[in-house]
Amino acid sequence: MVEATIATMPSPADAAAQRRTFAIISHPDAGKTTLTEKLLLYSGAIEQAGSVRDRRDRRSTTSDWQDIEQRRGISISSTVLRFDYRDTFLNLLDTPGHRDFSEDTYRVLSATDAAVMVIDAARGVEAQTLKLFEVSRQRGIPLLTFVNKCDRPGPGPLGILDEIEDKIGLQPTPVTWPVGLGQDFVGVVDRRDRSITRFTRAEHGATEALEDLAHGYDSLPAEGPFGEQAHEELSLLEEMVVPYDAETFLAGVSTPVFFGSALWNFGVRHLLDAVVDLAPPPGPQLTADGSHRDVDAPCSGFVFKIQTGMDRNHRDHVAFVRVCSGTFVRGMTLTHEPSGRPVNTKHAQFLFGAERATVDEAGPGDVVGLVNASELRIGDTLYDGARVRFPPIPTFAPELFRTVRNKDTSRYKQFKKGMAQLDREGVVQVLRHPDVGDQAPVLAAVGELQFQVAEERMADEFGAAVILEPSRYIEARQTDTESARELRALRGVDVLEKDDGALFALFDSNYVLNRTLEDHPELTLRSIVVA
Ligand code: G4P
Repeated sequence: MVEATIATMPSPADAAAQRRTFAIISHPDAGKTTLTEKLLLYSGAIEQAGSVRDRRDRRSTTSDWQDIEQRRGISISSTVLRFDYRDTFLNLLDTPGHRDFSEDTYRVLSATDAAVMVIDAARGVEAQTLKLFEVSRQRGIPLLTFVNKCDRPGPGPLGILDEIEDKIGLQPTPVTWPVGLGQDFVGVVDRRDRSITRFTRAEHGATEALEDLAHGYDSLPAEGPFGEQAHEELSLLEEMVVPYDAETFLAGVSTPVFFGSALWNFGVRHLLDAVVDLAPPPGPQLTADGSHRDVDAPCSGFVFKIQTGMDRNHRDHVAFVRVCSGTFVRGMTLTHEPSGRPVNTKHAQFLFGAERATVDEAGPGDVVGLVNASELRIGDTLYDGARVRFPPIPTFAPELFRTVRNKDTSRYKQFKKGMAQLDREGVVQVLRHPDVGDQAPVLAAVGELQFQVAEERMADEFGAAVILEPSRYIEARQTDTESARELRALRGVDVLEKDDGALFALFDSNYVLNRTLEDHPELTLRSIVVA
């Protein structure tokens, strides 16, 4: 069940010190969902793994709740999981498991203070991890690394350390180390106190693995060839790698590395403890003018995600707000920075996957869902006291385009409403040509699956079936009013507009884009989109 109410809220600074807000990022299939579930198991938030997601039929689930997700067995929408462990409130911002939904992942990262990067021990660092890391680095997010699937044969832990260093450019500082690999993976050594934890697999990994703790790794060689190998590697590490260092970790230069198996619950507790012990609590938040909003300042936050249809019985609209400072009290009136209008927070909720509970108070780092605050958009700041604006949430320029048409012209109103809603939620970007207007907007996305979700939701939720047609556009860049005038005069370039006024130059070919960039360096053409 949902632990919703925090009995008495301490001062915002004390509340911040008690919180860790983090995300898990990984290449699809590296084990993010499994690990999420096991973190919940070890924190005591769920009693048995498998209650979050029954892997055999991929149906029942806490974090994957939408129809399409359930049918496909993938996690599309980001949800917030809130649980407590060792007197700390953990806000785990779930990121989509499918690569097509990476745009959503970027937004979620804007609301976290740290991230756990999951690497598949057998497959090593994969392309998707690299792009995600780029974004994390841009945002200065400290990364903890969990090398998962150590129960499978792989290149070995030293190879993984090399990959982290070579491919990602992060200094790996192994905190734990595996004893045995593949079928022989029996435990992990904690290099900080030289303890060895041996695990016994519980059936289906549904409950905590039995642990047997020994001190000092001098006893390792007596445990046979795997103990001997681990002992040798550990001696090598003493010379080869620098020890964990808080300063470089927090600066995004080094990453503490943990080894384990989420499936069998090996090393999960070490990671969970590390989130509490090493990940930073919420701190002063950078604002758009370069100053910082201190956690003790009056309440403020920003919207990083919007979602509708979370409650199947009501087609509701939830704006997820990351609290940055002060104490959020349900019912308080906050100011919507872009419009200056008051926002009612009477319907604030904490969310636990599809479950939700009313929130009475929340502190820095918490995420509250504001139900039916339909005027809010992604990136909007809400505040009490002195006016503040947090920086916009950057995304990548869309890479895929479709022309969308309304199948049944008598349902024009529904079509228009659906398009506006999907655009606001960021499911797809809806762009309009000034000459064509609402008749045939262009949908823009970074992943193919975004179109499918849009198509299904238009039919199911808004009752306006659509036809998606190939579009001639190949590339897009964000531009501004001044450059738009010149761009419109060029061949092979159109300028389309979003509902919120953002302008995009769309190109027929890479050639036209490159030529425009070369011939017109004075024009604004951004590949990172700023709202
Ligand atoms: P994702 O969210 O990152 O996409 O990954 P997910 O947790 O869904 O895991 C992907 C697959 O990897 C699943 O197998 C899962 O059981 C498996 N897995 C996760 N952690 C481990 C681990 O530590 N060791 C091993 N050996 N496997 C792991 P699947 O075949 O897709 O599903 P299922 O048939 O196991 O249910």
